[in-house]
Amino acid sequence: MAMGSASCISLVVLVALATAATGQLSSTFYDTSCPRALATIKSGVAAAVSSDPRMGASLLRLHFHDCFVQGCDASVLLSGMEQNAGPNVGSLRGFGVIDSIKTQLESICKQTVSCADILTVAAATPSSPLKGRHGLVPLGRRDSTTASAALANSDLPGPGSSRSQLEAAFLKKNLNTVDMVALSGAHTIGKAQCSNFRTRIYGGATNINTAFATSLKANCPQSGGNGNLANLDTTTPNTFDNAYYTNLLSQKGLLHSDQVLFNNDTTDNTVRNFASNAAAFSSAFTTAMIKMGNIAPLTGTQGQIRLSCSKVNS
Ligand code: HEM
Ligand SMILES: *[C@@H]1O[C@H](CO)[C@@H](O)[C@H](O)[C@H]1NC(C)=O
Repeated sequence: MAMGSASCISLVVLVALATAATGQLSSTFYDTSCPRALATIKSGVAAAVSSDPRMGASLLRLHFHDCFVQGCDASVLLSGMEQNAGPNVGSLRGFGVIDSIKTQLESICKQTVSCADILTVAAATPSSPLKGRHGLVPLGRRDSTTASAALANSDLPGPGSSRSQLEAAFLKKNLNTVDMVALSGAHTIGKAQCSNFRTRIYGGATNINTAFATSLKANCPQSGGNGNLANLDTTTPNTFDNAYYTNLLSQKGLLHSDQVLFNNDTTDNTVRNFASNAAAFSSAFTTAMIKMGNIAPLTGTQGQIRLSCSKVNS
C-alpha cells in the first residue's frame, strides 16, 4: 500500500518532469517520425545485456559521461577526442552496442533518431528504476559536431574526489546534492578497476571496513593488476537496489568518492534515507536521471543527426 502510493506519486512527478520542466524535449518526440525507435533501442540493449550482463551498467555510465561534457549531445561517442580523456580511456564500454542500434535505426528511419537520444534511452534500460518508463523519458536531442577531451578532464569527477569537489562538479551541471547522492546510487551495479580504488585500500584510509579492504587486496595487488575488476556494490552487484547505501553505512564503499557521501558530513542523512527507504531512492534516482538527461541538449536546428554515432557527417 505504501509502496503503491509512493510509486504513484513518483509517476505523477515523472509525467510533470517529462512534459514541463524539460525545455524543448518531449517524451513523444519520435511517435510520428519513427514509431519503432524506442522498441528498437530497447531490444538492441536487451540483446547486448543478455550476452554481456555488465553492459547495462556500462551504458548507464556512458550516458553520464556524455551529459557532463558539453551536455547530452553524444560527444562522447565520437572516435578519439573525449574517449582519450583520463576518466574515459581504457574504461568506457558500450560504443559498439550504440553503433549497432544506430545501424538498425538508420534502416527503418533514415537520419531521424539522434545518437544522444539512443544513449539516453539505452541508459534507462533494462535494470534501472527507469525500466519500463521509456515512454516518459524526454527526447529530441541532436548530436554535436564537436567533442572536447579537455572538458571531459575538467568536468567529470574522479574516484579520488572529496565530497565538496563532487558537490561542485554536480552543481556546475545544475544538479543539487540530493541529485548527486541519488545518481551515485548507479554504483549499485557495474565494476571498477583496481587502479581506481588501490589508494583507498592501501593508503591507510580510516573510513573503510577492514575485512572489506582485506578481501579487495586479494585481486588488487599493491602494484600491477591495474585493470583487475571489483564490483562497485559488494552486496548485490547485479541488482539495481539500494544496497549501495547500506554498504556506505558499514564503510564498504568501493571508491573514495563513494564513501565520502557517508563520512560524518552533510550528505549522511540523504544516504541514511536512501539506505532505509528503497522507494525514496528509486524516485530520487528517476528524477535526477531526467534532470541529468536534460543538461544542455542541442535542439531544433542545432548540431546534426549523425548517420554514424562514431563520426560527424561528412
Ligand atoms: C559522483 C561522481 C562519480 C565518480 C567519481 C564516478 C567514478 C567511477 C569510476 C572510477 C568507475 C570505475 C571505472 C573503471 O574502473 O573502469 C565508475 C563506474 C561506474 N559508474 Fe561512476 N562515478 C560517479 C558517478 C556516476 C554516475 C552519476 C553514474 C550514472 C548515473 C555512474 C555510473 C557508473 C556505472 C554504472 C559504473 C560501472 C560501469 C561498468 O561496469 O562498465 N557513476 N564510476
Ligand atoms: C563528526 O563531525 C563532528 C562535527 O564536525 C565532530 O564533532 C565529531 O567528532 C565527528 N565524529 C566522528 C566520529 O568523526
